[in-house]
Amino acid sequence: MFDFDKAPNRKGTNSVKWDNADARFGGKNLLPMWIADMDFAVAPAITEAIHKKADQAVFGYTFLSDAYYDAVIHWMKTRHNFDVAKEEIVFTPGVVPALDFAIQLLTQPGDDVLVEVPVYGPFYRMISKNGCNIVETPLKNDNEYYTFDFEDLESKITDKTKVFMLCSPHNPSGRVWSREELTRLADICKRHDLYVIADEIHNDLVLEGEHIVFATLNDWTASHTITCTAPSKTFNLASILDSNIIIKDKELREKFAEKCASAHVSSSNCFVEPVVTAAYTQGAPWLDELLEYIKGNRDYVCDFISKHIPEITVHPMEGTYLAWLNCEKLGLHGDDLVAFISKCGVAMNNGSFFGEKWDGYCRMNLACPRENVVKGCKMLEEGISALRK
Ligand SMILES: Cc1ncc(COP(=O)(O)O)c(C=O)c1O
Repeated sequence: MFDFDKAPNRKGTNSVKWDNADARFGGKNLLPMWIADMDFAVAPAITEAIHKKADQAVFGYTFLSDAYYDAVIHWMKTRHNFDVAKEEIVFTPGVVPALDFAIQLLTQPGDDVLVEVPVYGPFYRMISKNGCNIVETPLKNDNEYYTFDFEDLESKITDKTKVFMLCSPHNPSGRVWSREELTRLADICKRHDLYVIADEIHNDLVLEGEHIVFATLNDWTASHTITCTAPSKTFNLASILDSNIIIKDKELREKFAEKCASAHVSSSNCFVEPVVTAAYTQGAPWLDELLEYIKGNRDYVCDFISKHIPEITVHPMEGTYLAWLNCEKLGLHGDDLVAFISKCGVAMNNGSFFGEKWDGYCRMNLACPRENVVKGCKMLEEGISALRK
C-alpha cells in the first residue's frame, strides 16, 4: 500500500541529515546514514492533518484536547497493552528535555546515576549537566549480542545511587529486552530503592520479539518509573517536537509537570495535536508495512556484510532502524574511522557518540529506500577492499 522504495528529495530542505552531513563528516555528497530520522514520507493521514490545520490560517496559542490524549491512550493500550489515564501523561517537546527534567527531579548534585553502556549519547550529557556522576555498567557482548551484566550492575550500586537509566529498545545495539531481563533488572532496582527513567522512544520499532513496557512489569515498576514515549521515531516526526511522558505516581508526576512549567516548555505548537492524533489513530497500517520494509533492509545489510566485509560484524537488530557495526577489525578508531567511512562516501555516527570505548564501531541508519542501503553497502565494500591492498 505504501511505496517505501521511493523517498522525497531532502537535499536543500534544512535537513540535518542531508544538508549537514558533508560539513560534519568531511566529504562531498556523502550518503547520509547517520542521525536517527527516516527518509520516507510520513503516513498520508499525517500530511492531510497538517494541510487541514494550515488551512485554518491562524496559529495562536493552543492546548491539547481530549482527542489528543485519547489517541495516545488508545495507542499505548492497543500496541503495548499499557493502561494509561489522561492525567498520567505529561507533554514535553522531546524526550531529551524529559530526561533532563527527570534527572533534576530524582537526584541532587553529587548523586550517582547508573546507566547501561554503550548508550545514546545525551544520556551521559544529561547526567553530568545536572552535577551527577555517570556510573557505567557495560553490557556484556556475547558474540556480538548484548545482555545485561547483572552482577556488575548490582555491584556498582551504592548509597549515592538514585536512578537507573534504561534505553528500551536499546540504541545503539537494537536489542529488544526480554521480560525476563527487565524483571531481573526491576528486582535489583527495587532492592536498592532506585527510580528508573525508561527511555522507550523506540518502543514501536520492534522487528523481533515484543517490547515490554518497564512500568507494566509490576506495581513497584509502575510507581517507580518515568516512561518516556514519543511518536517521533515511529512516525518520522522529530521536528514536530512531541513526547508523552507517562508517570503513574501522582506526586512524582506533579513535580515533573512543575519542572516543565517552570522551564516554560509545557505548551505545544498547534500542529502537534492534529499530527499526533492522525498518527496514533490512522498510522498503524503504515507502521506495520514500514517494519516489514526495515526488516528487509536489515536482512540485506546482515547478508551483504557477512558475505563481503569480514572486517565488520553487525549486531542482530531486533528493534530500531539503526544497525550497530563492529568495525574494530579495520584497526581504525574515532576520527580516523570517521574519515575513512567518509572517504568511502557514507556518513555514519561514530560509536564514540555512545561511549568512548566504542570508537571502533559505527551506527548505520537503515530507514531509507533499499536502493540507498545497497549503495551504502557497496561503497563500504569498495573502500574496505581498497584498504586491504
Ligand atoms: C534513545 C533516544 N532517546 C531520545 C532521542 C531523541 O529524542 P528527542 O528528539 O525527542 O529529544 C533519540 C533519538 O535518536 C534516541 O535514540
